[in-house]
Amino acid sequence: MHDFEYRGNELFCEDVPVREIVQQVGSPCYIYSHRTLLRHFLAFEDAFKNIPHLVAFAMKANSNLAVLRVLAREGCGADIVSGGELFRALKAGVPPQKMVFAGVGKSAEEIQFALKSNILMFNVESPGELLHINEVAGSLGMRARVALRINPDIDPQTHPYISTGLKKSKFGIRADRALEEFDIAQQLPHIDVVGVHKHIGSQLTKINPFVDALKKILELIGVLQTKGFNIQYLNIGGGLGITYSDETPPHPKDLAAAISPLLATVNCHLIMEPGRSIVGNAGILVTKVLYNKEAETKRFVIVDAAMNDLLRPSLYDAHHDILPVLKDESAPVNAVDVVGPICESGDFLAKDRKMGQLKQGDLLAVMSAGAYGFTMSSNYNSRPRVPEVLIKGQAIMIIRQRESYEDLIRGESIPEVLA
Ligand code: LLP
Repeated sequence: MHDFEYRGNELFCEDVPVREIVQQVGSPCYIYSHRTLLRHFLAFEDAFKNIPHLVAFAMKANSNLAVLRVLAREGCGADIVSGGELFRALKAGVPPQKMVFAGVGKSAEEIQFALKSNILMFNVESPGELLHINEVAGSLGMRARVALRINPDIDPQTHPYISTGLKKSKFGIRADRALEEFDIAQQLPHIDVVGVHKHIGSQLTKINPFVDALKKILELIGVLQTKGFNIQYLNIGGGLGITYSDETPPHPKDLAAAISPLLATVNCHLIMEPGRSIVGNAGILVTKVLYNKEAETKRFVIVDAAMNDLLRPSLYDAHHDILPVLKDESAPVNAVDVVGPICESGDFLAKDRKMGQLKQGDLLAVMSAGAYGFTMSSNYNSRPRVPEVLIKGQAIMIIRQRESYEDLIRGESIPEVLA
């Protein structure tokens, strides 16, 4: 599943002791395994090898240039959601012809940038956006390839904050207006309708919601094809879950087995947008114990990483396993809250977690932190963002430096009148 394993009592990433990496770059830091990353991408390639397809990595999960490059070299594309992500993907060497652009609020500048970059297509999320893209393309004397993102109203059975395909969600075009919107799109002078897109949510651990949503979309494609639309692409989004604790999510092979027979009914190029399932378990966040503290009714382990470094526990109550970098099986076990230095009660990495007694300076690995970890980090409390390191075999590669205090104030100035 991943390449973070104990050898004896010591946690390794591939062939390097995690302790050694921290000696080089300090704590906290994100560490990614090249081998895990590659294996997880190739699992998709292998599962879908008999179907014409494009894996467009959802780079919101992890947008480090080196991570993108590892994937791009293997033929991976990118699912982008902003001008910034487009900029990064280009810098990393992802071919624009393998990029799809989703998101409910694309600005004129972002649309122009994408058109000039000649990306594969926009995934359009509303009637207003469709008209806007047509207008921007017209002003550049260009045509925009689009897929309409349809909201199939399927419950993905995941955390409400990461459910995106329900009627009440802000994403996609309502299913009952889909045909109407396709008709409008077809008439627009600067739009080429090339596909249908859906994405119903993230961290899905069952296959049924994928199948149910796909059936709805295929029905729509059937109708569109009889109406003469040339639907070349079917984009099924991302969402495949990973193991954080005891989940047993479907493997890409299971997804392929479940949906391949359905796909045979339409003659479309398949696009997928996995994020978490490629990079989630390929990364950890390493943090150091600063203090043990006993409140009247609780024990706290205060560590040097915080909610600004990994927001998922605070925001979604998400579970991440936390493992000692050096195991001591004889240590007495207590239930503790693992908390960061930030001035918020919501700043925690784990609550009531049973852990062996820790002491100042001990290193902990927060597991499954490769997706939506660094990308959701911030400078809250004026904390410099932490470095990212890529491990390949015995090689330690720093792929993002730790920010400095100077980095924190870059772009700020004190106006003359305040002198
Ligand atoms: N495609 C679209 C249109 C999406 O909105 C997303 C994720 C993906 C693909 C990739 O989904 P994945 O394969 O990674 O599940 N910050 C949250 C997750 C937010 C997901 C947003 N959209 C978390 O930490 O759990």
